[in-house]
Amino acid sequence: MKAQTISGLGVDLAEVSRVRRLAADPRFLKRVFTPGELAYALKSKNKFERLAARFAVKEAVIKALDETALPLNSIEVENTPSGSPKVTVKGRPGLRLLVSISHTRAYAVASVIAFKA
Ligand SMILES: CC(C)(COP(=O)(O)OP(=O)(O)OC[C@H]1O[C@@H](n2cnc3c(N)ncnc32)[C@H](O)[C@@H]1OP(=O)(O)O)[C@@H](O)C(=O)NCCC(=O)NCCS
Repeated sequence: MKAQTISGLGVDLAEVSRVRRLAADPRFLKRVFTPGELAYALKSKNKFERLAARFAVKEAVIKALDETALPLNSIEVENTPSGSPKVTVKGRPGLRLLVSISHTRAYAVASVIAFKA
């Protein structure tokens, strides 16, 4: 594996109950999540944990990149067949990010490492 320089690190902790409350508004869902993220989260029984985890990833990406103006729905979390998450930013094909997620009934946490292009 080629050595790459880390350019940023971000972490975020999201409260599942807060995301559950906000998710009652379809405008929030549209502003924050992509259709693929909604489909992945809503098919599971712990849907609000998964939405909170994706919310945390987006905040962690913003921290790792130090770009507070990045639209939340331009950041997308997808899962590989093994369940492992990956994250991309729309219009930034060269950007390399690493992500890890964990969630419980109460909280979701995500950490993100950004690499120099
Ligand atoms: C994959 C595994 C590590 C997830 O851990 P967990 O404690 O069950 O769940 P967490 O809330 O911490 O993590 C869930 C997130 O892990 C991520 N994940 C899932 N599979 C993954 C994998 N293969 N690699 C990296 N991340 C993975 C996903 O992002 C998932 O959240 P999402 O589905 O919303 O995207 C776990 O299910 C596992 O397979 N452990 C192997 C050992 C084992 O079976 N232990 C149980 C013994 S009783």
